[in-house]
Amino acid sequence: MKIVVTQPVHADQVERLRAAGHEVEELSSPRGLTADELRDRTAGADALLSQLSDRLSASVFEGTTLKIVATIATGFDNIDVAAASAAGVVVTRTPGVLTDATADLTIALMLAVARHLPSSDASVRASGSTGPFRLLYEPMGIDISGTTIGIVGLGRIGEAVARRAHLGFGMNVLYTARSSHEVGFPVSRVPLEELLATADVVSLHAPLTDETRHLINRDTLAAMKSSAILVNTGRGGLVNEVELAAALRAGEIAGAGLDVFENEPDVHPDLIACGDRVVLTPHVGSATAKTRRAMTSLAVDNVLAVLAGDAPITAVPK
Ligand code: GLV
Ligand code: GLV
Repeated sequence: MKIVVTQPVHADQVERLRAAGHEVEELSSPRGLTADELRDRTAGADALLSQLSDRLSASVFEGTTLKIVATIATGFDNIDVAAASAAGVVVTRTPGVLTDATADLTIALMLAVARHLPSSDASVRASGSTGPFRLLYEPMGIDISGTTIGIVGLGRIGEAVARRAHLGFGMNVLYTARSSHEVGFPVSRVPLEELLATADVVSLHAPLTDETRHLINRDTLAAMKSSAILVNTGRGGLVNEVELAAALRAGEIAGAGLDVFENEPDVHPDLIACGDRVVLTPHVGSATAKTRRAMTSLAVDNVLAVLAGDAPITAVPK
């Protein structure tokens, strides 16, 4: 059968597809494939191995020959799953294997903002010196240990962040979620308003849906403490970036650590203009060698299963 791979992936994983007797076409597109391109390139294909920058809108699935779309990501907001289902296309994702790596980056961003890591590094490099030791160093950092973290969305990644925050930093954990969770250490489910008003760090782990788009906006930012840090390793669309930049400039919150952006690959210039108050990384939550390999491997497992007539391993939730 024919499998289209939208962007470069691990060569040995592509070999697994060929070894199973399939024909593989490998594409590449720095900004991801548009719906029109995907529709053209998947004509006559049985499977698509896609990534989060590919736009899998409804038009891709009109009259499609695809049996499966396997996105190498846990988030699937770039895919019209209803249209895929209506066309009989199975959609799979790669949850679980990227949980720890993404939670680790979340903690890294929290600390990088709190302790001004990028600007400190830049100043040492620029001067070749630490400068004289100054007790009254500026900018002073923000304490993390023993403070309160608010987790918006206690899925796998949210829970892994909560565990690190609680066990590693003695943080008190508040969360919002559609249902209550038992996680083996104390966490309190609270309304979003209470989480925003109380948390010293607010970390976003909800999926991007019509309901959660711009969850962080002028009003919710105003509800946060002026000393608070926002961290987003989920999806950029959870945050209204222009309103976040305005809130940072106005000192309504203290800082933000962002790995995801509303209009990737573009980053809003207002955020860049926030200087030291923001730490920006290029959507690398899952970007460790072991994790990225595990993601590709799981996506390939799904393609091989579905093309063999078996059930998908990690279909997107209904
Ligand atoms: C990355 O953002 C993913 O959804 O895996
Ligand atoms: C991601 O897959 C999550 O459940 O947090």
